Amino acid sequence: MSSGLSILYDTIRWEEKALFDAGKKKGSDIKMVDCKNLFLNLDKSKDSFETVLQRCVSYYRSLHSTAALEGKGVNVINCLNTSIFAGNKLFTHMLLQKQGIPTPFSTVAFSEEAALEALEKNGYPMVLKPTVGSWGRMIALLKDRDSAEGIMESRERMYPIYQVYYLEEFVQRPPRDIRAIMIGDKVVAAIYRYSGDGQWKTNMALGGRAEVCKVTKELEDVCIKAKNAVFGQIVGVDLMESKEKGLVVHEVNNTTEYKNTVRVTGVDIPAMMIDYALQSRK
Ligand SMILES: Nc1ncnc2c1ncn2[C@@H]1O[C@H](COP(=O)(O)OP(=O)(O)O)[C@@H](O)[C@H]1O
Ligand SMILES: [Mg+2]
Repeated sequence: MSSGLSILYDTIRWEEKALFDAGKKKGSDIKMVDCKNLFLNLDKSKDSFETVLQRCVSYYRSLHSTAALEGKGVNVINCLNTSIFAGNKLFTHMLLQKQGIPTPFSTVAFSEEAALEALEKNGYPMVLKPTVGSWGRMIALLKDRDSAEGIMESRERMYPIYQVYYLEEFVQRPPRDIRAIMIGDKVVAAIYRYSGDGQWKTNMALGGRAEVCKVTKELEDVCIKAKNAVFGQIVGVDLMESKEKGLVVHEVNNTTEYKNTVRVTGVDIPAMMIDYALQSRK
């Protein structure tokens, strides 16, 4: 019998293959759907989807396919609100703040001139991030006015979203951050990610190194609040150990990668994700 569960992808990474294999091991018939081959009539007609694990890498593809499917009554994990809010660092920041969750101090400016003024007032260095993005791409440490002007001048020639200047304090922390994988209300595994040679960003995509991180009550409490703040179900919460503020949340990933977390901790995250998705069927 069909499990009613589909995995929607646009690239098959280790994560998507592992989900398919986990389903197979459980005897569940899971449909792999390439979003690039998909069209959806946007009226009320029935499609063959019941529950969809959203795994598209492309931000726009993920956001819009979630909106279309959820709008047609499909149970999409994560839901549209999570795609919208967790997909954007500024939107996430505002929700985390509202819930009293510690975050890096942040500023937004809507022109290069205003951003330079904010930097003069708040002081260098600050971290400039695209509000939408991943793998540490286009995140720059602005050390002084010269570097800020150089980086922002190039942003002025890009797609308008890059002219939203979202700035964060450069958090004083050990050379690592924490990635915690949440399935429902549980942190199922967490890792420290240490930055690679000559790097300050700790993304694994930039050559970071992973180690097991013990899940303390404090870590779990912050992660549950962060997940709930963005209406998430299965998310990867990124935190830093600020010398000044303790644990701060800087990102919630709604299509989280977990290959290195599985490798380092041995926790069968894909099996747990499949169980969660199967139990969440309407
Ligand atoms: N405000 C900050 N201060 C110090 N390091 C940061 C700060 N923000 C991000 N980083 C580092 O850069 C990495 C990438 O930032 P993040 O906000 O997670 O963006 P991405 O979506 O590209 O992963 C983080 O994992 C962390 O190591
Ligand atoms: Mg991140």
